[in-house]
Amino acid sequence: MASEPDLIPAPVRVEGPYRCGFVLDRRTTLDAAPGTGTTERWLRTVLGAAFALPLRDAAGETATNSIRLRLDDGLAPEAYRLDVLAHQVVEITGGGPAGVFWGAQTLRQLLGPDAFRKAPVRKRPVAALVAQTIEDEPRFAWRGLLLDVARHFMPKDDVLRQLDLMAAHKLNVLHLHLTDDQGWRIEIKRHPRLTEVGSWRARSKWGHRASPLWDDTPHGGYYTQDDIREIVAYAADRHISVVPEIDLPGHAQAAIAAYPELGNTDVIDTTALSVWDTWGVNPNVLAPTDNVLRFFEGVFEEVLDLFPAEISPFVHVGGDECPKDQWRASPAAQARIEELGVGDEEGLQSWFIRHFDRWLADRGRRLVGWDEILEGGLAEGATVSSWRGYAGGVTAAEAGHDVVMCPEQHVYLDHRQAPGEDEPMPIGYVRTLADVYRFEPVPPGLAPQAAAHVIGTQANVWTEVMENRSRVDYQTYPRLAAFAEVAWSRLPAPEARDLAGFERRMNAHYLRLDALGVDYRPPAGPRPWQRRPGVPGRPLDGAPPSR
Ligand code: ACM
Repeated sequence: MASEPDLIPAPVRVEGPYRCGFVLDRRTTLDAAPGTGTTERWLRTVLGAAFALPLRDAAGETATNSIRLRLDDGLAPEAYRLDVLAHQVVEITGGGPAGVFWGAQTLRQLLGPDAFRKAPVRKRPVAALVAQTIEDEPRFAWRGLLLDVARHFMPKDDVLRQLDLMAAHKLNVLHLHLTDDQGWRIEIKRHPRLTEVGSWRARSKWGHRASPLWDDTPHGGYYTQDDIREIVAYAADRHISVVPEIDLPGHAQAAIAAYPELGNTDVIDTTALSVWDTWGVNPNVLAPTDNVLRFFEGVFEEVLDLFPAEISPFVHVGGDECPKDQWRASPAAQARIEELGVGDEEGLQSWFIRHFDRWLADRGRRLVGWDEILEGGLAEGATVSSWRGYAGGVTAAEAGHDVVMCPEQHVYLDHRQAPGEDEPMPIGYVRTLADVYRFEPVPPGLAPQAAAHVIGTQANVWTEVMENRSRVDYQTYPRLAAFAEVAWSRLPAPEARDLAGFERRMNAHYLRLDALGVDYRPPAGPRPWQRRPGVPGRPLDGAPPSR
């Protein structure tokens, strides 16, 4: 008997593998049932390119040497069964189109690392599979990755590449952090200065904010509305939904630099603000005015048009790290607290979020926000991204709200992945590959009814100290592979997880990542060019970090 396949994430059940099976070659055909078109296209594009195969259409024929794609509504929408049959047939049956697609990702892993290249590397490219049956389905419906494209802009092609990498790991939600103090990255037609002024900064802090170093190269970039449409459509073809985040009422200095009337003009001279060039929590927040509400309703109108509800109902409004000092100092904000009867500055924050919760609900959408949106009272339909640990998520889930668990102590991939001097710009907690593998999204003790509100989990890639694609790769991989298994596979409790088995399967997975050209952190530590000697970070030994 052949050995178990080295799949990541691990599937629910494997029968076999047995001897003999299937050889993929130039005569292999593709027989795609109606409704499986995304996977049919993907297989032709990706496997067709990797092995120079025509994958001729054989729909309706009873061909052998064929890959068959089928739907079976007896399975859950994202579940699949993959049968490699001894008579030269591979059949992928999904509960829905997404299930078929995840089955195709498994097929690619079974075909070996060459299947992850964009062109053949052997004279007679063929790939052999042993007969087996794999049954699989995800644990969580929300298997997310946050990309912070605000602190450092990620060119569109890099986002498309990350979507391909997410698909290869069966992740299905890309949370795009589109706006922050350091940059506004999405074209809004009615407010052109958001990108004219807000999408670039003159220089950037090099390293953690306590570093004395600067990078004097101007930094910027933004996605046009057509770029966004392309990203959303590319993701949808891979059964990934994109959740846009427009962060308010804090993390808004780039917007205020573009439109100074959005800030607290009775406290500071907002016309003197520029797009922020360093990191941390910023005091310059939006003013609680009707004008600001109307301005952001206009932003969200364009956002809703670009991110259609059929793909994802969720819209993220941030809500994190909004210092209240300016509202405390502002006579206008204090008068607003009085007028609205919201009690204090926390009430004002809650008023902001409730306004957009209702506004989005009226348009058939669902608001998501960081766990600070609990302060001053949670808006009715809000879903919570629990980042400052589990506590916010637990409170929200117990109150009947949906929750995405992404605690910074476990799944903030900007945090360093080993102790010592070699990690580039080391910040935050040490979180190794093994630590991420032992992350459990549902805290023990949560009652089943509340646990059912944990709709998923997310790894967050904040990019203050990631200036380019290779730095993003280094921080994200291989830990995202461990995270993907946590999000997809039904792993036992952390202490019972088979770390050695995971590490053995990772040996095969590193070859896939090599073929994909991913600049991951090697198990033995960074390669010389992956280091950033002399650039200060901020390792943490206890106290919580702040951005
Ligand atoms: C966050 O890390 N401020 C959500």
